[in-house]
Amino acid sequence: MVRYGAPSFFPELIDSAEGSYVCTESGRWILDFTSGQMSATLGHSHPKIVRTVQETYPKLDHLFSAMLSRPVVNLSTRLAERAAEVTDIDPGTASLDKVVLLSTGSEVNDAAIRMAKSITGKFEVVSFSRSWHGLTEAAAGATYSSARNIGTPGAPGQIAIPTPYEYRPDFVDADGNLDWRKQLDFGFAMVDAQSVGSLAACIVEPVISGGGVLVPPPGYFEALREKCHERGMLLIFDEAQTSMGRTGTWFGFEHDRVTPDILTLSKTLGAGLPLAALMTTTELEQKAYDNGFIFYTSHVNDPVVAAVGNTVMDVIEQEHILENVEQRADQLMKGLMRLVADHDIVGDARGRGLLQGIEIVESSASKVKSEHLGNLITEKCLELGLHMNIVVLPGMGGVFRIAPPLTVTAEEIDQGLGILDEAVTAVENARDAGEAL
Ligand SMILES: Cc1ncc(COP(=O)(O)O)c(C=O)c1O
Repeated sequence: MVRYGAPSFFPELIDSAEGSYVCTESGRWILDFTSGQMSATLGHSHPKIVRTVQETYPKLDHLFSAMLSRPVVNLSTRLAERAAEVTDIDPGTASLDKVVLLSTGSEVNDAAIRMAKSITGKFEVVSFSRSWHGLTEAAAGATYSSARNIGTPGAPGQIAIPTPYEYRPDFVDADGNLDWRKQLDFGFAMVDAQSVGSLAACIVEPVISGGGVLVPPPGYFEALREKCHERGMLLIFDEAQTSMGRTGTWFGFEHDRVTPDILTLSKTLGAGLPLAALMTTTELEQKAYDNGFIFYTSHVNDPVVAAVGNTVMDVIEQEHILENVEQRADQLMKGLMRLVADHDIVGDARGRGLLQGIEIVESSASKVKSEHLGNLITEKCLELGLHMNIVVLPGMGGVFRIAPPLTVTAEEIDQGLGILDEAVTAVENARDAGEAL
């Protein structure tokens, strides 16, 4: 096997997956609190998704890239209708009623950046210092949290701004809290200093997931959009992880009431199958078209995954997924807050909807990051039957990302919290007893 970036492969082969669990070849069921790679949002092998694939593929598999089909038109229409419903929370903005369906998160971000360049005729792209937008050319250019140190030139015109991180504020007010306005002003002063006068876009996630499950403070994105528009830049929201119910709403941007110029959806749209969508306004789509925008791929607007996307939207509506997210998120956050209260090595709990995280530290007083303790907790959780993802990016310390399927039950949340508590307790006790860790 080519090693493609994971620190190591999972120690056992996975034989099957169902609902909130995966099962190893040795028959061990493990609670999957990463929803696969954050994409199996309706649980593994949801019966309605299985049926959609079984029914669609024999009838309509794959088409010439300029041919459209009913599942593609339906999904595009439904996404646009959903977006139109929520743009009234952000008066004065046009709704995102133009859609193209693609395959992966990296790919759709490349398409969004290419579109922004095509519309503005400029090439510089701004993103957060702790960002992850994927590993194709433009997406990798806008990714700062890792995977940069490869010693070869990337896309030109990349500029980072500091990431709002309330637990570890770099710009502080008189009370020691994050002064996000000062931080944002500083960030854009640096953008202006570095720019060669060709600013095209800013791409960010509404919740910075891979960078440590960071929820920017209220008002942040409105101010960010202002900074972008003052400079003629387009704002792109990368909602690979935050849309389709993950944060409790259809789109993550609803929480901030800030509609982007271009929206990208991926992971959560396909329930584990490769499906992504780029959405933008009629006016911007027209400009891109007029300027010769091209993103013609073999799997653009492919029918089978589009049919799956329609079923994802059906399931979210029919199975009251948003309500489940609200209740389970509350239960999970209360449990994580208890861990913060009970354990010296759990420094912070944060997140939105069912995208939550805890930060592991050497001690709550020192707030020193501890990737090592985080790794030990991960191992212990796995032994006890819970798979969780520790953010393993350099300098990110020990932040656990907790993102169970949106169909997760109250019992499964309790089971996960119980295992997590047991694992943290074991590691903390070993530390207190002075055992070699
Ligand atoms: C926010 C975000 N954007 C883009 C990507 C890239 O998506 P993909 O891995 O499907 O290319 C990821 C993947 O983790 C992501 O988390």
